[in-house]
Amino acid sequence: MIYLDNAATSFPKPPAVMQAMANFLEHAGGNPGRSGHRLSVEAGRIVYDAREAIADLFHAPDPLRIIFTLNATHALNIVLRGLLHPGDRVVTTSMEHNAVMRPLRALERTGVQVVVVPCASDGALNLEAMQTALRTHTRLVVTTHASNVTGTMMPAAEISEIAHRAGALFLLDTAQTAGVVPIDMQTLGVDLLAFTGHKGLQGPPGTGGLILNDPVDAVIIEPLMRGGTGSASEFEEQPEFLPDKFESGTPNGVGIAGLGAGVRCVLEVGVAAIRAHENELTRTLIDGLLAIPGITLHGLRGTCQRVSTISFTVANKRVSEIGMRLDEEFGVLCRVGLHCAPAAHRTMGTFPEGTIRFAPGMWTTLNEIREVIRAVEQVVAK
Ligand SMILES: Cc1ncc(COP(=O)(O)O)c(C=O)c1O
Repeated sequence: MIYLDNAATSFPKPPAVMQAMANFLEHAGGNPGRSGHRLSVEAGRIVYDAREAIADLFHAPDPLRIIFTLNATHALNIVLRGLLHPGDRVVTTSMEHNAVMRPLRALERTGVQVVVVPCASDGALNLEAMQTALRTHTRLVVTTHASNVTGTMMPAAEISEIAHRAGALFLLDTAQTAGVVPIDMQTLGVDLLAFTGHKGLQGPPGTGGLILNDPVDAVIIEPLMRGGTGSASEFEEQPEFLPDKFESGTPNGVGIAGLGAGVRCVLEVGVAAIRAHENELTRTLIDGLLAIPGITLHGLRGTCQRVSTISFTVANKRVSEIGMRLDEEFGVLCRVGLHCAPAAHRTMGTFPEGTIRFAPGMWTTLNEIREVIRAVEQVVAK
């Protein structure tokens, strides 16, 4: 089996992730931050260790400004639904995942003005168009860091600068870049960073988070949920301090234990080394695919402004047929269709059929990529 679906979720997970999760259940099964006994304290320590590793990875201002969530979708919803009110203006791009688009379209019905800046068919953002969209006062700019369809990266530092000049906050969706592209939220000027735990961070499903950078006052964001936090229990009102304001209910301790181990593994290998490895895979894959007659690559050919996610179509062949044959005849696992990003496919001109998406990850080898290219050659030939 060759797993090329790391843009959906990474596989396999490092053994340390499984061990950390089993260890949490066996030896630290208490409720973190609730009781004072040893199992609760140990669970709290594991959760805090994970916050520290994540703070390290993204250069967060303080581990306590990291809010654990179910996934990136949950983190994005906290900001979009908690910050934007009728009459507010929000600017985004035409390459966004439905994790951004669907909450925005729902908010639009309540009176939030949603402006979508169109991107080129390879996913590249025209900064001038973004600048023009930001001539009007705007509450928030939200963009993906890299498209989950073409792999094209957005120029985050430049967007942040334009957003701040317009008085807007900048929310970056790092679902496709966390753990595979070095991210310093301070130098990029990211105010709010949403991440998912189960892709490049090597953690289990059911993990993710939101980071509030320093100048962002938590008061401006209403929580999606309110409830017990194990803190300030004398009050019936939700606490305002972080992370408790946004972390009601028992956290996913076992998942967070696994996420912490995944992030420590990424830090140990080094994000720059992961990026270099994935760039080599990407270059080989793109060159190999482009040499096959009938294949159209949808996205950038160079590796500087992209991650390893690659989308392509084959002349006169259905993407579903290609995906099925790759799986059944060659054991190559990929994803075909619209990838929860219809706006991106409209931008690329591949709506509604979609594309075949290959997403190698940190554990994919160059030999596997060569095998995949041979498999595609055979599938395309007959
Ligand atoms: C760009 C992008 N944003 C958001 C998400 C949502 O991530 P999750 O499913 O972890 O909520 C994804 C998932 O594929 C994604 O690719």
